[in-house]
Amino acid sequence: MIIAIDGPSGAGKSTLGKMLAKKLNLLYLDTGAMYRAVALAVFQADETIENEKKAAEIAKHSKIELVGEPDSPQIKLNGQDVSDKIRTNEIGQMASVVSSVSEVRKILVEHQRTLGETAPNGCVLDGRDIGTVVFPNADLKFFLTAKPEARARRRYEEDAQRGQISTYEETLAEINRRDERDISREDSPLSIAEDAIVIDTSELNLREVYEQMLEEIKVKSDEGRGTRDK
Ligand code: DC
Repeated sequence: MIIAIDGPSGAGKSTLGKMLAKKLNLLYLDTGAMYRAVALAVFQADETIENEKKAAEIAKHSKIELVGEPDSPQIKLNGQDVSDKIRTNEIGQMASVVSSVSEVRKILVEHQRTLGETAPNGCVLDGRDIGTVVFPNADLKFFLTAKPEARARRRYEEDAQRGQISTYEETLAEINRRDERDISREDSPLSIAEDAIVIDTSELNLREVYEQMLEEIKVKSDEGRGTRDK
């Protein structure tokens, strides 16, 4: 089973993706972490993020691995655990820039498809283009969204827990900047797949969204079983 979860940053994709993967015993793939890892590799190579050719070259030669259980995933860049390093706002902005480079996307999309297709029980992937580009035939597609203010509030609280210093206003401005870039880029912009189930999480708590998603998955599995039994 392939489950796609797309949506803007701070809508709850990764937390819910991890919860579902754990519950259903599926692989969890945080595709944003892969773009972040490429951004970090560009940063470590002292290259400017605007050098698209160089970014593609770096993406091609970087070994990006996602390891560990869904509730404690680790991301490795060329053998080094970079799970914390990729979570800064600076790398987030750089990832948003690097993700608009078509050649970088091509490399990472291929990697994501291979990982998803070879996962023994299936995979939950979270990102921006999973249901539209990476797995257009996914069994189930969710698009999680929320008002920018709600997303900024959550991101701000997460950052504070990690010890990152920023204000709510800065976080909101950062989210709006990133959304604008992710929506307006030419290659695979953030968009809602025609057959996606859209959930606005602004007024819902985590548990409510989780239950709703599980219910949709159950309906889908029952449908599949019904078709097979006929
Ligand atoms: O989900 P995130 O905030 O960690 O993602 C970081 C950046 O990567 C985000 O600005 C958009 C980009 N991204 C993308 O273009 N496609 C994906 N499938 C996942 C993330």
